[in-house]
Amino acid sequence: MRHLLPENRPALVLAPMQDVTDLPFMRVIARRGAPDWFVTEYFRVHPDSVPHAYILRSITENQTGTPVFAQMIGRDLPSLIRTAGKLAQLPVAGIDLNLGCPAPIVCRKNAGGGLLREPAALDRLLGSLREAIPGTFTVKTRIGYADASEFPALLDVFRKHHIDGLTIHGRTVGERYQSPVHADCVRLAVESMPCPVIANGNIVDTATGLALLTQSGAAGLMVGRGAIRNPWIFSQLRSVFDQTPPPVPTHRDLLEYVLELYDELARESRKLIPRAHVQRMKKTMAYITHGLEDGGFEHAMRRAVTPDDFFRICREHLDHDNPLPTLPPAGSKLFCGFEELLE
Ligand SMILES: Cc1cc2nc3c(=O)[nH]c(=O)nc-3n(C[C@H](O)[C@H](O)[C@H](O)COP(=O)(O)O)c2cc1C
Repeated sequence: MRHLLPENRPALVLAPMQDVTDLPFMRVIARRGAPDWFVTEYFRVHPDSVPHAYILRSITENQTGTPVFAQMIGRDLPSLIRTAGKLAQLPVAGIDLNLGCPAPIVCRKNAGGGLLREPAALDRLLGSLREAIPGTFTVKTRIGYADASEFPALLDVFRKHHIDGLTIHGRTVGERYQSPVHADCVRLAVESMPCPVIANGNIVDTATGLALLTQSGAAGLMVGRGAIRNPWIFSQLRSVFDQTPPPVPTHRDLLEYVLELYDELARESRKLIPRAHVQRMKKTMAYITHGLEDGGFEHAMRRAVTPDDFFRICREHLDHDNPLPTLPPAGSKLFCGFEELLE
């Protein structure tokens, strides 16, 4: 990962998000100021798995010029080694292992965040994967399963295996997505890991990004939900570091982004069923509507059924030149916890 770090500023990374950060989304983001690298949503790995064809396209058809890491989730070592071998033959920047997913179905099988409960098994797994992956091998982790006090022991395991990069979503698995992030844990990793550490969690604008950077000392920032809500966030952060004027997007710019994403996703759909496509878009739209003060937009979008509903509601709420708010509303269900970064 070190070779991907920019010389004069921290790295900027789009977080992997299942059912969001696919090839169309990466293209739409890249047009608004690409991050330094992407990470695919996770490939599920088990004894019968083959890498998912649709996710593979975000590697094999990535023409954005932005490198992409392939992320795996699983716990069966032979399957992980087999899959890493296949993925490494593709144009990937590296292979990343997910140690953070809190979904009960994943954790029950002791994969994703569930693996953090078993440091000894994790130790064996990382050792074997490190040996099997000749190129860049990175880990994306949370800071523990139930409690942040688990983190120092996990860091001991990560340190042992010469991973090339560590991304830390600064919450425990139990804290899911809503709590403030533990920047002190990210700092502990920065101070004790020999590889670059990327900080992740609750970055919604330049101020929250800079705050997490200052509090953690990380080599880079990874942004997830904040980039769905504000796809200009990487350009804006880059402008701060380069001391150039940042883009100031309006509601109409947001409308253009939504319509572009709708079209890109429709174009990539194997069989376009208009009403199903609206439902697909609504999953992503939740992060956009919840990011605005306009409660009416969120309420109306939840009820959209047809493409006509979808376009009409978007135009009614977004077709004007007022600048977008920099922060989501205080108390927003999908973005809570970011305020603490600013205290
Ligand atoms: C809808 C959604 C899907 C996600 N899917 C993945 C995934 O496939 N792999 C992963 O490592 N993390 C996944 N995450 C976690 C994010 O990568 C990120 O760590 C988390 O959202 C915190 O960052 P943020 O506050 O910038 O969103 C997902 C998060 C969301 C909201």
